[in-house]
Amino acid sequence: MTDLHVVILAAGKGTRMKSAMPKVLHPLAGRPLIEHVLSTVDALKTASTVLVVGHGANQVKAALAHRPNLQYVVQSPQLGTGHALQQAEPALKGKKGNVLVLYADVPLLEASTLQRLVETHRNAKAAATVLTAELVDPYGYGRIVRDAGGRIERIVEERDASSAQRAIREINSGIYALSMKPLFEHLNRLAADNAQEEYYLTDLIAMLRQSDLRVETLCLDSAGELRGVNSRLDLADLSQEVRQRKNRLLMMSGVTLEDPATTYVDAAVTVGEDTVLGPGVRLEGRTTIGEGCRIHAGCRLTNATVEDNVVVLDYSVIVESSVGTGAQIGPLAHIRPQSVVGAAARVGNFVELKKTTLGKGSKANHLAYLGDAKIGEGVNIGAGTITCNYDGVDKHQTVIEDGVFIGSDSQLIAPVTIGKDAYVGAGSSITRDVPAGALAIARGQQVVKPDWATRKKAERRPAKGDH
Ligand code: UD1
Ligand code: CA
Repeated sequence: MTDLHVVILAAGKGTRMKSAMPKVLHPLAGRPLIEHVLSTVDALKTASTVLVVGHGANQVKAALAHRPNLQYVVQSPQLGTGHALQQAEPALKGKKGNVLVLYADVPLLEASTLQRLVETHRNAKAAATVLTAELVDPYGYGRIVRDAGGRIERIVEERDASSAQRAIREINSGIYALSMKPLFEHLNRLAADNAQEEYYLTDLIAMLRQSDLRVETLCLDSAGELRGVNSRLDLADLSQEVRQRKNRLLMMSGVTLEDPATTYVDAAVTVGEDTVLGPGVRLEGRTTIGEGCRIHAGCRLTNATVEDNVVVLDYSVIVESSVGTGAQIGPLAHIRPQSVVGAAARVGNFVELKKTTLGKGSKANHLAYLGDAKIGEGVNIGAGTITCNYDGVDKHQTVIEDGVFIGSDSQLIAPVTIGKDAYVGAGSSITRDVPAGALAIARGQQVVKPDWATRKKAERRPAKGDH
């Protein structure tokens, strides 16, 4: 929509959050609150987006640095919603068309609803179109006051309303489509003569009507989409709503959720058909999971790429790493960033990988730390193997070529290379490269002293009567 310009109001303090962090940065279903409305706006493909910031402006800007097309205007002090939109005027100067006013703390709003709002506005050639809804309990919202002909006349805030007006159940969502020209002809005339001594954007409606301009409404059947976040209780409620939406989509697309109530999947995550997610699974960020996988109870995957038919056993963590087809991870494995687990490889319990490639069919089944390592195909890493990658100052690489066997409880002191098909004897501390096909054993020689223990025991035999 090339003639549509968006202004998002996000300057408010969010007092009821009781937080040092700006309200709009609190995560809702894994993403900052503000990202929800921004991604709805993305779907509309609008001409420009202005964000009105105030409280915590620099923090908000820093958190949105990945969106270079956003324009910011700062509102300081914050003197009301009308005052907030006044600040956006310079950013919209010279632009034609319509302005869509949105709130940063109303995250459930759908793009299709906004599309309907803008269409209603255009078809009516209105100066303003207000998104409204009928509520059973309208307490706290601005009310839509209509004239004898049923046309919207003005909006009254709860605090300024008469008792008759308080009985009105049609509420103002605070979301409007506004025609640029009449908007900026009237916006500077707002006055702060109300209970809160603020410049109310809602007063614009009565002003437009007094100028004999057309004002329309679009009334929603259900107000679910209009719910706002004011406190951490709202944050939890709406998070649950967003989570449930995502879980329903997953189930409809062929994913089994053993316990949807405890399955937390971020919006951008994709999961293939016939994959089963166990209870307490969290899939975060840009994680993608293939088909036919099983992610067991309590696993967390963050920005992970998992191919088809992978099994991740209980309580494993995979972060910014990839796992190849048919591999098996866990239980209780920790795959840290920049790791690549090859197809059909196995990473067992209490194994930690960091910046490590484990080749196709290789196994590290028990109790190992593999960091800064490049491990080839068909390698067997014994229990308790440790890559000693850090000398206190720098990190060093360990290279383990195809077909190598590392005996249990070995330390590989990096930088070091174990050549193709070589063997490392159990309990070795390897400090130098091992050539291909060789056996390396690096441990203290065993000393056997016959009868030593037997003699010691005899010497210690207690005196008579002594227990
Ligand atoms: C507003 C509407 C009310 C409507 C309700 C819907 C006004 C006067 N009232 O009331 O009719 O029913 O929304 O939720 O508009 N903001 C700024 N700068 C300010 C003040 C607010 O940017 O100076 C931003 C806030 O960050 C927030 C939004 O505007 O995103 C709404 O502000 P808020 O104070 O919550 O308005 P309400 O009192 O809820
Ligand atoms: Ca509010």
